[in-house]
This record gives sequence, C-alpha cells and structure tokens, in this order.
Amino acid sequence: MIEPIRTLWYEEETDSIVFIDETRLPESYEIARCTSLAELGSAIKTLAIRGAPALGVAGAFGVAIAARRSGETGYDQFFSQLTKDANWLSSTRPTAVNLSWGVQRVLSRVKRSGSVGEAKIAALSEALAVAREDAVICRKIGQHGAGLLPDHGTVLTHCNAGALACSEWGTALGVIRSAVEAGKEIRVIACETRPLLQGARLTAWELARDRIDVTVITDSMAASIMRQGKIGCVIVGADRITRDAVFNKIGTYMHAVCAKYHGIPFYVAAPVSTFDFDRTEEDIIVEERGREEIASFFGRTTLPDGVPVKNPGFDATPLTLVSAIITEHGLLYPPYDIRQVNGNIR
Ligand code: MRU
Repeated sequence: MIEPIRTLWYEEETDSIVFIDETRLPESYEIARCTSLAELGSAIKTLAIRGAPALGVAGAFGVAIAARRSGETGYDQFFSQLTKDANWLSSTRPTAVNLSWGVQRVLSRVKRSGSVGEAKIAALSEALAVAREDAVICRKIGQHGAGLLPDHGTVLTHCNAGALACSEWGTALGVIRSAVEAGKEIRVIACETRPLLQGARLTAWELARDRIDVTVITDSMAASIMRQGKIGCVIVGADRITRDAVFNKIGTYMHAVCAKYHGIPFYVAAPVSTFDFDRTEEDIIVEERGREEIASFFGRTTLPDGVPVKNPGFDATPLTLVSAIITEHGLLYPPYDIRQVNGNIR
C-alpha cells in the first residue's frame, strides 16, 4: 500500500490553510500556512501551492478564509466584498480553470445562506467537501486509468500531475500509482519541465518517495527516446480542457506531436472540474510568467542584459492528438463529442 502524501488541508486549531511549500522541494520538505487571503494569493502566485486540482481546493479554502475573516455584519456588504475577494483570488492564476471553479463553488454556497453567520459556516463546510472530494476523485481517476497502462512498461510524463498538484494521490501520477498498486511494473520517465522544473523537483520527489521507478530527462530528450521505442505511452494532467484543446504545462504539445508521430498513445488524466467545454482554445488567457524564471538558473545569470524572453506557463494541445481522457467517471475517447462529455459532467 502506498502511503498518501497530503498536499494541503484546513487546520481547525489555527483556522488556517496548511500546505507543503513546493518552492522548497526537493531540498527541504517544509510545511507552511496561510491565515489570510493575501497570504494565500501570494502562495499561489509563487507556486508554493500549484497544480490544477490543488488550486481548486485552495480557491475553495480561500473563499472560506475570506468569509471567516470578514468584519462585515450586513449580508449585502459581506457578499459584495467576498465577491471582490473571490474574483481577485481567481485572477492570481488565470489558466487553470479549477481555481475559479473552486472559488465559485464556495461562493455559490455562500449565496444560498440567509445570514453572515450561516455563510461563514457554510463556506468552510463546502471548502472541506471540495478537498475531500478531490481525494476521492483522484483515486477514481487512478482506477479508471490504470487499465490503460501496460503490465510492464515505461510511461513518460511532463510537469507534475501528482499528489503535489492535488489534495493527494494525483491525476496522471494517480493513474501510475494505481497501476503500481495493482501489480503493474511501471517505469516512469519524468521530463524536467523547464523553466521551474516541476518534473525534476516534484514528480521525481514524490515517485522516489513511493519507491516507483523514475528517471528524469531534459525536455529536449523526449523525442529521441520515443524514436528509440522506449516509451509505451505518455500521460499528463490538464489545467483546462476546452472543446478543442487541452491546456497544460508548456511543452505538453511538443510531447503530443512527438507521440503521434511515433504511434505512442497520449493520455490526459483530469477531473471533470477541469473541463470548460463552453470555450475554445482562442478564448483562453495563457499566463505569461516573469523573465527572471528564464534569465537565471541556480543563482547564475543565463541571459545577456536586456535580451527579452517569452515565458508562457502553458500550451494548448489539440484534442485530435489525445488518445483518451481519463476522468473520475471513466474514459472518454475521440471525437470527444460534447454530449458524451456532458453526459459525464452535468
Ligand atoms: O504551473 P503549474 O506547476 O501549476 O502547472 C501545473 C501543470 O501544468 C499540471 O500538469 C496540471 O495542473 C495538472 S495537475 C494534476
């Protein structure tokens, strides 16, 4: 049995959100806490808390914390300030739809409350439900996806779609964990994931901790090892799935194109809260991150002064390149008909 990693949770005694500070891994395992919305927003912006499902849980807890800290006594003022806070929190990372999904879910619950006192209690209980459900959903994704993986084989993944990106277990890594628990012999190739190295720092950390065979490669090695016939399938998570594309960490599209060329299945594992089938690729804002993430590496300057960079956090992979999407309700296959998805989602 694999002992779950808990990534973020609510602590009653301190009325705070407690989380693994992912900026510190793998050098040190540090637990941090947020007691205010501003602290939570900063933890999200710096990627101390990150990964789509974890952002959904954080968004839910954020609205609960904002509600509980509110000094407003009149319901209208309370709700209007909470809505502003919620919108601000959603804007801290715009691409992963789960953040605004978690925020909106708690806000809708607050809206159904008759008083400020009731709203404060309801907000926390809804956020706790979001966190609990996330853990259950990841297990289900794992069970549905495990059958797609070979009994003995090598799986390539990008970024971190593991326990550290959820409240526990993970989506893409959840599928790998469930397959390993079911007795499959899976070897994982984790792409390092420039520029913030979520693959090297986080995926390798959590798989090594669980004694799952993992090897880290540079992102630019992926095509060549696919060509050598060493990859059985690719599995990644998602930040948003529109009608036509999967948004995930920059570099995902490159792996999907290479997988297609080499006839390797390309799977996406994601909860239905990641679906945004009312939108298409062109509607989505891709977060552009700072120059400093590319202009230095481990304290050394890597770019001449004044040279600009491009640093989008995510890219879009057309659904035509995706062999199957693994959700908590089961597997979806091309052509990802809206009715097939809606039947599972709504
Ligand atoms: O910038 P990050 O680290 O938040 O990006 C995370 C990813 O792209 C993950 O692959 C995605 O959120 C899926 S997590 C289950």
